[in-house]
Amino acid sequence: MFNVLEDVITDAYGPEAWDSLICMAGAEGAYSSLGTYADTEFHAIAHATATLTGQETTDVLQAFGQSAMPIILKRFPLFAEGVGDARTFLLSLNSVIHPEIRKIFAGAACPHFKYAIGDDIIQITYHSRRRFCDIAQGLARGALSHFGEAGDVSHPECLHSGDDACRLDIRWAA
Ligand code: HEM
Repeated sequence: MFNVLEDVITDAYGPEAWDSLICMAGAEGAYSSLGTYADTEFHAIAHATATLTGQETTDVLQAFGQSAMPIILKRFPLFAEGVGDARTFLLSLNSVIHPEIRKIFAGAACPHFKYAIGDDIIQITYHSRRRFCDIAQGLARGALSHFGEAGDVSHPECLHSGDDACRLDIRWAA
């Protein structure tokens, strides 16, 4: 995730911006491709970006997730190859995508989802000790864009607001 974050920030604002953010956040700035990183550093960088750009940290994390999806799909094109729509793609997170990632990168800390499926909606309950639900919301938006589908991803329940879990509602436009 850190490597993707570095790519997103560098693409948008240039390499100096990444160095300044690392410095502002008091972070180390050198990370392996895997998530044994300190989650607090990730949040500190998101918070520093929010301060610099005058946004809320949740909006920064959501925007990061959305921008990250095309970068992730470029690195792992197989997961979307032959997949016809965003619904099928999102429903393969638990059964295919993240399990395969755990095989490739031993020790990867990927989230687990529970699904409730309707005709024009999927409700995803997000479980992860990392509490990166805003990133998940942005990634789901990025998945809709990747498949050229119109819809909305809302976040009606959130651990950060005192709810028992985080729920994302992915609703397709009629
Ligand atoms: C091709 C599709 C995808 C690939 C290859 C992928 C791969 C990964 C990888 C490598 C990590 C980092 C693991 C670590 O740092 O230890 C990760 C974490 C994560 N993924 Fe995925 N992912 C994909 C799609 C998605 C989608 C669509 C969502 C949300 C709906 C999602 C939600 C997350 C979140 C929130 C994390 C952060 C860690 C956490 O919350 O526990 N991913 N994923």
